[in-house]
Amino acid sequence: MAVRVIEVEEFDLIVFGASGDLAHRKLMPALYHRAADGQMPHDARIVCSARRDYTDEEFRDYAKNALQEHVKDLEDEPLEMFLNRLRYVKTDAASGEGFEDLKVILEERPDVTRAFYLAVGPDLFGTICEHLGEIGVVNDHSRVVMEKPIGKDGASARALNDTVGAVFSEDQIFRIDHYLGKETVQNLMALRFANALFEPLWNAAHIDHVQITVAESLGVGGRAGYYDTAGALRDMVQNHILQLLCLVAMEPPESMNADSVRDEKLKVLKALAPITEQNAQKLTVRGQYRAGASAGGAVPGYLEELGHTESQTETFVALKAEIANWRWAGVPFYLRTGKRLARRVSEIVVQFQPIPHSIFDAEAGAITANRLIIRLQPDEGVQMQIMIKDPGPGGMRLRQVPLDMSFAEAFKVRNPDAYERLIMDVIRGNQTLFMRRDEVDAAWAWIDPIQAAWASLKDAPKGYTAGTWGPSASIALVERDGRTWAEDDGV
Ligand code: BG6
Repeated sequence: MAVRVIEVEEFDLIVFGASGDLAHRKLMPALYHRAADGQMPHDARIVCSARRDYTDEEFRDYAKNALQEHVKDLEDEPLEMFLNRLRYVKTDAASGEGFEDLKVILEERPDVTRAFYLAVGPDLFGTICEHLGEIGVVNDHSRVVMEKPIGKDGASARALNDTVGAVFSEDQIFRIDHYLGKETVQNLMALRFANALFEPLWNAAHIDHVQITVAESLGVGGRAGYYDTAGALRDMVQNHILQLLCLVAMEPPESMNADSVRDEKLKVLKALAPITEQNAQKLTVRGQYRAGASAGGAVPGYLEELGHTESQTETFVALKAEIANWRWAGVPFYLRTGKRLARRVSEIVVQFQPIPHSIFDAEAGAITANRLIIRLQPDEGVQMQIMIKDPGPGGMRLRQVPLDMSFAEAFKVRNPDAYERLIMDVIRGNQTLFMRRDEVDAAWAWIDPIQAAWASLKDAPKGYTAGTWGPSASIALVERDGRTWAEDDGV
């Protein structure tokens, strides 16, 4: 299959936090691929900035190492061409040092798109934007990219958005949720809105429930310091999982225009039934991993990784959410995410209603309701589970089989990382896959009462052994409703 590459306009991309982990693992590899594929114009520049002292040459060496570590199919010529695009300027957000040097570099090309990428901790977002405002480098063709976490609750998110909003207008602010850049997540929109098949069935009359699982096998590792201040609810549910839920549940937008899509997602977030102190114990489960085994080896528990003997931070959360609107009333959305679970898998399971009446006799066997599974990772694909007649003689025997579409097998193209698409969308000025301010507010408005309920109920996380599917209470959450998590019935 031919891959279509459309060159973007001239740009300067300024990466703050260029010597950090995100830049190293994600941004540099993503930019390299877009450059190697011919998507960057000849003069596009990547201006890297951090607090360390580097010359351009030293930084290029540093970037080269990052690419050698994280890009499988690195090629010499594109690599050299890519490294030549890199410039380095030392800046210190706290003192404001170096921002005038940055200005000198940017003013060499006043008319090109200027995208500032804040790959730094959120405590620096406001300060960096203020410096950019002060030195006068924010113009009509400027943009800023913010990484999560955007605040730790609604109030801090509003304060942060106010500070950034004082320098950049809303249509210049790109709040990244990298899940929205994943191929299969975009495929969810194709599946729903480029096929006539699903839409008539996509409602409470035909769908029994939806499961969204984002399970990781890794622990918190080196990020324990940050993670302990966040927990799974803020780190994964407030953003990634709610965004997935929105894409599954939203009404068809008028078009793929950014505001049409974001208006529809916002309506879903606003329709989420509140979880408060009154119902939190029934609708939520918190967990924290203990030592166990993962990928065949022994692994430490969360507290050991953190180096403390006590922490109330959850590394696992399961929730039963409900969307109080006409389409979804009465359809539970079971949401679940955690670290150190049995395997790495992110998937959305749409469980249809059982057939209303069976014409088959008992010997035909049980009839399992249809299920659509959208696998985000690994092994991206879509699977539809249907009933068929078991082939051969022996009467009518029914059996469930998967109609399975693995993208890797069907399309022999490299699966681009989410950041590749998202960074190019920033340059193009396309905000469809980025969160608007009111979406962030609405997501926090649902999350804050859950967090508050846990605090006032003194709900300590339940321990689970690393390498399992989380606390048994998570299984009970679903079984209480007469249902099971997808992996428990052998999927
Ligand atoms: C990040 C979270 O946003 O997403 C991490 O902060 C998590 O805790 C990561 O590990 C998961 O992303 P992916 O793309 O590996 O599923």
